[in-house]
Amino acid sequence: MSINYSERIPNNVDLSSDRRLQRALEAWQPNYLQWWKDMGPDGSLDFDVYLRTAISTDANGWANFGYVKMPEYRWGIFLADREADRRIAFGDEKGKPAWQEVPGEHRSTLRRLIVTQGDTEPASVEQQRLLGKTAPSLYDLRNLFQINVEEGRHLWAMVYLLHAYFGRDGREEAEEMLQRHSGDPDKPRILGAFNEKTPDWLSFFMFTYFTDRDGKYQLASLAESGFDPLARSCRFMLTEEAHHMFVGETGVGRVIQRTCEVMKERKSDDVRAFGCVDLPTIQKYLNFHFSVSLDLFGQEASTNAANYYTAGLKGRYLETRIDDDHQLASAQYAILGLDGGAVVERQVPALTALNERLRQDYIDDCAKGVLRWNKIIERAGIDFEMKLPHRGFNRRIGGFAGARVAPDGRVVDEATWKANEGKWLPSDEDRAYVTSLMGRAVTEPGKFANWIAPPARGINNQPADFEYVRFN
Ligand SMILES: [Fe+2]
Ligand SMILES: [Fe+2]
Repeated sequence: MSINYSERIPNNVDLSSDRRLQRALEAWQPNYLQWWKDMGPDGSLDFDVYLRTAISTDANGWANFGYVKMPEYRWGIFLADREADRRIAFGDEKGKPAWQEVPGEHRSTLRRLIVTQGDTEPASVEQQRLLGKTAPSLYDLRNLFQINVEEGRHLWAMVYLLHAYFGRDGREEAEEMLQRHSGDPDKPRILGAFNEKTPDWLSFFMFTYFTDRDGKYQLASLAESGFDPLARSCRFMLTEEAHHMFVGETGVGRVIQRTCEVMKERKSDDVRAFGCVDLPTIQKYLNFHFSVSLDLFGQEASTNAANYYTAGLKGRYLETRIDDDHQLASAQYAILGLDGGAVVERQVPALTALNERLRQDYIDDCAKGVLRWNKIIERAGIDFEMKLPHRGFNRRIGGFAGARVAPDGRVVDEATWKANEGKWLPSDEDRAYVTSLMGRAVTEPGKFANWIAPPARGINNQPADFEYVRFN
């Protein structure tokens, strides 16, 4: 379904047929733009940025490139096409027609799921707002801005649902999305990882690899929802999300590649002497971002997760491709936890273990990029291997919260933890070093900061020296 760009709010939901809703969203729009100006990428309002804008949600239309000033980006409401006769795929209501309206008994739960998802979208824009000042190239600057405008659009996607289906409560929630801010002591964002700073580009690449990937898994499970407008919103968001994780994977890969090049050229492991990030420091950043992203999946055993599933609100990853009864009344699932200082496995009802199952899908996906990073190191002939730490490492939520688990899964005592913390997680000194590499933004087309390799190819196949951002 093509997107109507002639209206103030581009959309493919026939917004003009519902004047009340249209007016409510048009009243929210200036507040959103004000938020973008106050909290979006700092000092960027006049830049012409080579951005991707969706003109339709099908394969031909969703990747349309051109120069745009970000405040003029056409944020709007784009849902994936409606599937004829879609049925609820899981839970107690399995087989019944998917809901086109919110079932009264699930109203507050659905609203909470939508608000929690929606809140992460502007949060990441806020976390990343200063990074443009230290971009390692125009290519990277453009990718940052692309991600930022799309996270803004993901907020639109959730705000549309709140306005269209949740009445006055929904409108109030939509306002609050713009009032909470990442790291604000009085009105913080809802989830912990979204109140952390993204202070440098290595953190940004790790965040887009690990934390945006959590987003992928949350969106994928909401894309299975029996509430059809939510499912269709999330399905289209997933197509945009893929680029964010690409930026993360290739970004980390390019840092690794540059480090390996310098190690070989200089015949030294001490690449800090040459202004690059040493491999052990990259591993520590990986450990940090992986572990805080694991927390976003919640408790291993969760009755909330079971209730969402039974009610047909939130499915499993690729629910319809799983070969089982999609109700899980008697199925079991093994989860890991701690018992008297040891990591032990125990069987729990599969229904309560759905967070853990989603976390496992996520971990398997994360591991694929790590393999590709290791290929870069291997091709350079360097003996070093990046590893995902154990799932119990550095956790704040779930059965491992507060426990001292080494990256290799050993449970250690406090003294051992303290003695090794600086080898496992970025120390203040590591962070200060990485920050020191983030000099002034590199703005000459085709040039890159010393600590990162150029990408293998340009965006939309543009040449290496393409002017991705024009400053005015
Ligand atoms: Fe997003
Ligand atoms: Fe994202």
